Parts: sequence; structure tokens; C-alpha cells
Amino acid sequence: MTPPTTPTTPATTTGISAVTGAIGSAHTRVEGRDKVTGAARYAGEIPFAELAHGWLVLSTVARGRIRSVEDSPVLAMPGVLTVLHHGNAPRVDTDYVGMVGRPNPVLGIFQHDRVPFVGWPVALVVAETSEQAREAAEALVVRYDEEPHDVAFFAGRSDAYTPESNPMVQAETEKGDVEAQLDASAVVVDEEYTTPEEHHNPMEPHAATARWDGGRLDVIDSNQGSTWVATELAMLFSLDPASVRVRSEHVGGGFGSKGLSPHQVAAVMATTILHRPVRVVLTRRQMFSLVGFRSPTAQRMRLGADADGRLRAFDHQALSLTSTVHEFVESSAVLGRVMYDADAHRTLHRLVRLDVPTPAWMRAPGEAPGSFALESALDELAEKCGMDPIALRARNEPETGPVSGLPFSSRNVLACFEEGARRFGWAERDPRPGLRREGRWLLGTGTAAATYPSGAGPSTAAVTAEQDGSFTVRINAADIGTGARTAMVLVAADALKVGPDRIRVRLADSDLGPAMFAGGSMGTRSWAWAVTIAADELREKLALGGGIPPEGITARSNTTEAIGALAKKERHSFGAQFAEVAVDVTTGEVRVRRLLGIYAAGTIVNPLTARSQLIGGMTWGLSMALHEEAIRDQESGSHVGADLAGYHFAAHADVPLIEADWVDDPVPDDPIAIKGIGEIGVVGVAAAIANAVWHATGVRHRDLPIRPDRVL
Ligand code: MOS
Repeated sequence: MTPPTTPTTPATTTGISAVTGAIGSAHTRVEGRDKVTGAARYAGEIPFAELAHGWLVLSTVARGRIRSVEDSPVLAMPGVLTVLHHGNAPRVDTDYVGMVGRPNPVLGIFQHDRVPFVGWPVALVVAETSEQAREAAEALVVRYDEEPHDVAFFAGRSDAYTPESNPMVQAETEKGDVEAQLDASAVVVDEEYTTPEEHHNPMEPHAATARWDGGRLDVIDSNQGSTWVATELAMLFSLDPASVRVRSEHVGGGFGSKGLSPHQVAAVMATTILHRPVRVVLTRRQMFSLVGFRSPTAQRMRLGADADGRLRAFDHQALSLTSTVHEFVESSAVLGRVMYDADAHRTLHRLVRLDVPTPAWMRAPGEAPGSFALESALDELAEKCGMDPIALRARNEPETGPVSGLPFSSRNVLACFEEGARRFGWAERDPRPGLRREGRWLLGTGTAAATYPSGAGPSTAAVTAEQDGSFTVRINAADIGTGARTAMVLVAADALKVGPDRIRVRLADSDLGPAMFAGGSMGTRSWAWAVTIAADELREKLALGGGIPPEGITARSNTTEAIGALAKKERHSFGAQFAEVAVDVTTGEVRVRRLLGIYAAGTIVNPLTARSQLIGGMTWGLSMALHEEAIRDQESGSHVGADLAGYHFAAHADVPLIEADWVDDPVPDDPIAIKGIGEIGVVGVAAAIANAVWHATGVRHRDLPIRPDRVL
């Protein structure tokens, strides 16, 4: 498709012209030049006078108590300013309900002597330079009374339990009699699928600089939402929310890992004691225990169908792990509540508590591992029914939400399959496995569906008409590398009916007012809504005529109340993934030759950055299918190879031609019609690849990653 060119218009006296069409036009990042020239500063590199550097010391035992922190020798080392630990650190309050529920108690660092996992923060060494802090941190002797630990995750653990449902994850849904419908089914699939522990590794490690500035706490941070971080820091430290400011102007990736973590808390503690700005930067290895990860999963899928593929029974049971200090549910079973209906339908999450860090959101939390199990099982069902996998999905398209009964705001998953099948050449596919050979390589193709919720979070925005004919948009959005800043320029341009060159966007500053964080594929949707309302109001104000005063004319918006109306429909993005693989019969190596993803994601704001987002997600899906796996040593409770050398993920040479595109997906009743694309690119890709490996070899792979030793 050829994007329309970006219109530009001369300034008029009112600032209003009749030009639209910015949304949907390809636009390079407005901050792109700053980023590639180094002018854009990240949280760990902004200079401050008197800056001190903190280095976290993490526990080396998986369970026990701290007997002593022998800080005296370290305090005598060059440049060392202080050593914070449970014996001397300021007290914090972790008994509050924040933006995402109760805080993870790991934020209550240095409050007690208990150690619940390897990598728990036990001290912060602060020194004049980062090197001095690191040297002293490595020299610090911490003695422990060790207790036996348990880090073994496997299906069938007798201590697994059903978590309580919470606003984030409804633990269980059930309708009809699954066992009876399975008995009545002509075809049954009953299989177990596993995915390993996986870690998000944004390019920019987590970093925060905290200082007290005229009675206000000022934190320069790398995060996915400054409202979130500021609000929770205020609660943790019992501060007036108005006295906390958090900024994160440029962020080098997040993927769910950049909320509030111990390093920001440590930096605030240290600056409070030292009366100097304090910076804490995490190392890559520290990120493996401090910023969350994706729990391993063991998922049992039971599907029962009539001979023609119509589902009678649907049962998805997903086991994941959590820590002993906090509950997090990897919501792998949620996508079946949206994708497929059946006479009897059940989804269930189970948890086991282990002596490991608390998992967290990692790109497409739930849907990423869940779609591997569900969309693999669908492929197995298609095989058993002798049906084309796309035809099987078409047969089971629900009219309304299979669990909620609510209508879909728009769906179009079949349109994605249709367009994808056409472009991929699916019609020529011989469904029989193990038939295509090219030298040492067996060839196969596979497909899978994708979905991710299209939610929204309350946001406020302000739009100002300036005297010079330009407009300033203020919204506490976070651009974590996605192009959110540029998306807001395009949204504001269309709402104001002016060219994008007349829009300036200020974001990532909690002083701009509360707004949704960049997460759950909700950022652009949530912020665009608030910006559009404010822009519409501004146009009304400007239509009244009169001059623009020096401070400009400002209109504000707040979507908090309007968001309630969204609950009356099922709102999701959808997609279809296609993969072609080659499997080396001598080495067991799987090479992905082609990936194609077609999405139905509402209005696509900026095709250029949207395509990058989707291709990034698909690349991650490839990586998940073939490479990623964090190994925990049972003896020590620690990771083996917790860095970018030991944690294997797809490199350039692993990544083939990847195409991402979308179908028209109008969302008539939606206030903003943008659905969100942050997560859906990864969903279903691992299943499409696993299904292609089956098609190539005739062997099902139900455990990720599909390593050469598993293929042979
Ligand atoms: Mo996303 S895992 O909600 O940043």
C-alpha cells in the first residue's frame, strides 16, 4: 500500500486549517535524529553536579536469613559514601494498593533479614564513582543462615493451587460439562505443552537518578509510565503525590519490565540520606532477578469435537509459578475465552509458589505462552479431523464472546486468515506431513491465530494553541521506543486539522498529569483518546474567535469516566500468523524461512512504526519458538548464564524475511478505533512455527524451545 503524503499547511490566524490525513501516513520518529546523533539522553547518562553512584548487592542464597552485612571494611574503601542494608535503611510502606494492585514486596528492600530468592537485594553501596561503588559492592561480605529451597517447576506438582481472581486475571471460567462433552466427541486432543522461563532484555538496562530538588523528589528514570512510578514512590515513601516528579524522556525498550523495581527505591533511599543526587543502574545480570520475567508454563489442552471439527469441549488448564512473597499469574488460559466457543468451555489457572523472584508482565503476558498451547492443539485437532487448519478455525468462529456473551466491537480474524493465506500461497499446501525435501532439509508450513485485548487506561491531556500558530500537546505518555511520541503528533494533527509539523508533543513527565502507562498494548489507544478530546475542545474554543494570549489557549481532557462505557463489548486485536520452516535432518536445526503476520488492529496510526512493532513481536515469537530458555540450577536456585551470552535469543542470522500487514478493521462504536499493536505480533508465532515443524517432519513439538537435541 502507498501511504498518502503528509500534508503541511501554512499557519492561519486561528491555527485551524482543514487538512487531515496524518493518521495512516508513514512518518519517521520525530526524535529519530536526536537518538541517532546521541543528543537524546537516557536515564543513566544525564549529568548532575555532585552525582553519587549506587550499586546493588544481591543475595547469593535462595532462602534464609541475613546473619550479617560486614560493611566496615567496605566503608573504608576509596570513594565509598554509605552502605544501605536492612540494619540502617529508611522504612517504607508496602501495604498499599497501587495502579497495578498491591506492590511486590521486593520493593520493600532493606526492611528485614529474610531472603526469599537468589538475587534479592541485600545492600546498596554508594560511592563517588560507579567503578568505586561496583568494586566495593563486590567486596562486601554478607553472611547468611541458609534454609532449604525449592525452585523445581513441573506439571503435576501436588502443591499447585488456584489463585484468587483479581482485576488483572480471572482465575477460572466454566460453562457446561467438559467431561460429558469430551465423552460425546468423535475426535479428542488431550496433550500437555510446556514453555520455559523467559526473560525480557530491553537494550537499555534499567536506570534511575533520584534527587531532592527544592523540597520535591525528582527522579530521572527509564520506565513505561511516570504516573505509575511517581504514584507508587509517593505511597512507598509516604510522600504527598504532588511532591514527587518522575521523568523518562527516552526509554530504550521495556516489554513489561520497566515499572517500579528495587533500584528506583534504593536511589530514593540513598539520596534522602546523602542529600546528593544518586544514580542506580542495573547490570544485565541483575535484571535477571530484579525486573520480572515470564514464568515457565505447563499447559494441558483438552479439545473435543464432532467429526466435522465443531468444538464440543474446550478445556485449557495453565500452570505457572510465582514467588513466596507475591502472587503473579501468567494468564495463559485467557485467550480461549475470546477465540473459540464450545458446548462446554473451561479455562483454569493454577500456581505453584517457589523460591524464585516474582514473575511479571513480559510482552503478551498470558497470550504468548497460551497461544503456543492453544494454537498447537487446534492444529493437532485439524490433523485428526482431516481438516485444513484455517477451515477448522472458521468452523469455530464465535458469534459473541464465548465466555462473556458480549458482542465483539470488531473481529475480522477470518479476514486476516484469508489475506494471509492468499499472500502466503496456502491454497497450494499439501497437508500431509514429512513429504517435502530439499537436500538435508525437510520443509513445512504452519499457521496460527493471534489475539490480544484492546483495553484503555484513564488519561489526561492538555493541548495548547500557541501564538505562533503551533500547538503543544502535553500528556504523560511513555515512548519506550515504539514511536508513541510520533503517533501523538499524528493524532493531534488530525484532531486539530493541521499539519503534523505544527504539533509539538511533551510527554514522560508526571507533572503533566496522570496518564496510562505504555503497557498491555493500551498506550497509544489510551493517550490518543485523551489527546483527541482535548484537541476537539480546543478547536471549539478557537472557533469562538479572538486573539491568542502569550500563554496560549489550552483545553484539557480526562477519560476516566468515559472508560466505563467500553465494558459493554469484547474489544481485541486479532491476527493470523504464517510460518515456513526448514528442518535439517542431520543436525536437528530448525530454520525459519518466512514469517507472515496479517492483523486486524483497528486504525493503524503510523504504518512505518506499526510495522516495526509487529515485526519486532514476530521476531520475538521466532526466538521463543527456537531459542529462549532460562535455565535454573536446582542446587543453587540461581540462573545458569543470566546474561546475553548465556540467554540465547534470535540474532540477525536467525531472522528471515518477515512481513507484517493488516486488513481494514473499522470499529464503529469505539471512541478512538485504535486497538493497539504492542503485543499481538508475538502471539501465535511459536505455534505457527511448531505447526510448520510438524508439517515438515511429522513430529509434534510440545515443549519450547524446539532445540536441535529435541528435534533429533
Ligand atoms: Mo507490556 S508486557 O504490558 O509492557
